[in-house]
Amino acid sequence: MRTPVRMTDLALRHAAVAPAVEDRVLSVLRSGAYIGGPVVAEAEARVAGWFGRRGAVGLNGGTDALILALQAVGVGPGDEVIVPALSFFATAGAVCAVGAVPVVCDVLPHDGTLDPDDARRCATSRTRAMIPVHLFGSVAAHPDLGVPVVDDAAQAVGGNPPASTGVITTVSTYPTKTWGAAGDGGFAISDDPALLERVRLLGNHGAQGAHYHLPIGQHVGRNSRLDALQAAVLLGHADAVADRVARRVAIAGRYDEALPAAFRPLARSAGSPVHQYAVRIADRDAVRARLRELGIETAIYYPRPLQEQPALAGRARGHTPVAAAMCEALLALPIHDALSDEEVERVVDAAALVTR
Ligand SMILES: Cc1ncc(COP(=O)(O)O)c(C=O)c1O
Repeated sequence: MRTPVRMTDLALRHAAVAPAVEDRVLSVLRSGAYIGGPVVAEAEARVAGWFGRRGAVGLNGGTDALILALQAVGVGPGDEVIVPALSFFATAGAVCAVGAVPVVCDVLPHDGTLDPDDARRCATSRTRAMIPVHLFGSVAAHPDLGVPVVDDAAQAVGGNPPASTGVITTVSTYPTKTWGAAGDGGFAISDDPALLERVRLLGNHGAQGAHYHLPIGQHVGRNSRLDALQAAVLLGHADAVADRVARRVAIAGRYDEALPAAFRPLARSAGSPVHQYAVRIADRDAVRARLRELGIETAIYYPRPLQEQPALAGRARGHTPVAAAMCEALLALPIHDALSDEEVERVVDAAALVTR
């Protein structure tokens, strides 16, 4: 039996940039500067540059980036925050973490991003913010509701033009992302120095620096800093991101032209980094099982609309028929920068076999 075609291969990805990553990691280890410092500042400048924004704050993950961004724009208990139904749990979980209510809106059928008309319908006098999600890297639109927009670009690093539409853009550098660390990481990115400063304070116990025993300022914060070691890993990967995205775009192009018509790909916005290549297909679970037998891994993003996540029962509200239908039909096929041409053809051949 041949090795399965996998959804990701992080060891192969590391091998492609090993000297750059390992030199930087070793140099941080030897420097003794593990919290903050120039390496974190360099990673922050790098990601801010990619997004065309003035600055960024390195944090310990995309989830905390969302939580701190919501706090920084003033969301708190009793407020409502509009989120799309199709996203990773953290988009709604972050809203609950600040004591607010996720109001889950439906998505557009062609690309799965927030439906601006439904977002308008979902708005109430308690709406305090909105989180469009750039799903799989496609730029999400949003209506102007007169509330701050925090856009979730966890899946959108490497897009050109960049997906960055809010007062704060949040990013995840979870290992499988286009710019992935060797552990958790994330950033809040903005043009507004005051918002960035608020995020930085909230993620550092409310303090300006690492002097824990000095008087703390006005914010009750927490520790959500990006480690210098993870920043070093990220910088070691940074120069490879454009080529990785180009590889993903090429694979997506091949799938577009060669997959059978029964595999209906989600639309992608121009310049999407194609974090996932998702298709809609009838009898999704049966097709998935057949592909597995043929040695092709797949994944389901996402199995249910956010408001139907058991943990959010009674905490989130939403009526999202378009998203519900998509959750029954969406299937993500292997797409990653270490995927070989031969593996891509195996996916194409297997797709032809299962739809014959
Ligand atoms: C859309 C979206 N939002 C938020 C997150 C959370 O990021 P993290 O895992 O870095 O906390 C993810 C991560 O997978 C994500 O895909």
